Amino acid sequence: MSELTEQLRCPNGEKGIEVSIMMNKTNRTMIEHSINCLDLKDNDHVLEIGHGNAGHIDRLLSKKDTLRYSGVDISPLMIAEAERINREFIEMGVVEFRHYEGDNIPYDNNYFDVAFSVNTIYFWKYPNVFLCEIFRVLKDNGRFVLTFADADFMRTLPYVEEPTFKLYTSEEIEDLSSSCFNFESIIEQTEMLRNKLNHLVERKFYSMIFVKKQIV
Ligand SMILES: C[S@@+](CC[C@H](N)C(=O)[O-])C[C@H]1O[C@@H](n2cnc3c(N)ncnc32)[C@H](O)[C@@H]1O
Repeated sequence: MSELTEQLRCPNGEKGIEVSIMMNKTNRTMIEHSINCLDLKDNDHVLEIGHGNAGHIDRLLSKKDTLRYSGVDISPLMIAEAERINREFIEMGVVEFRHYEGDNIPYDNNYFDVAFSVNTIYFWKYPNVFLCEIFRVLKDNGRFVLTFADADFMRTLPYVEEPTFKLYTSEEIEDLSSSCFNFESIIEQTEMLRNKLNHLVERKFYSMIFVKKQIV
């Protein structure tokens, strides 16, 4: 497995800091799209899963009044970087980050109004189980937005190596989510990116929107 492949899954060391800066920049449009799909309301408490260096929190918090944000990530380095970059917001008591192992989200049931995750589903161990875990921490009618790049696009990238990366179609994710979430809609988007050779390439990505509906 290439070093970059593993760094994208779980950034670590000096190189991990560089990779996280590059990711936050390259994935800016996807992150912004995911946040916009949350349909945020004043006072919402937002959960993000796999935030990387969390260089986007200032933009998120400016979307509505008195938002609160909690981030969870499997990389201790990303927790440290996210805390460093967002120190002011942490001191204000509106932002926190928690490390976890990728299985049990360290929050109580029915805790968050909304949740989102960008470019992480490729690394989830058991997506069907983890989707139910996200469901657990959301309040009733809570919205979850899952944003990920098109599998055919991902296969063109040299560092996207299986089994570290697992690629899904939106239909597969809808099936995996059906035991807990109500699938609401999917939005497809394309953007132009410069690759390492400075060539313009088109990236297709999706934001899938799910809602927590209580089973009666
Ligand atoms: C490819 S980066 C994406 C970072 C950011 N969301 C973005 O789109 O730029 C993957 C991030 O998710 C984290 N990660 C990987 N697997 C995870 C999991 N199962 N749960 C939470 N975070 C995870 C990594 O540590 C890393 O910070």
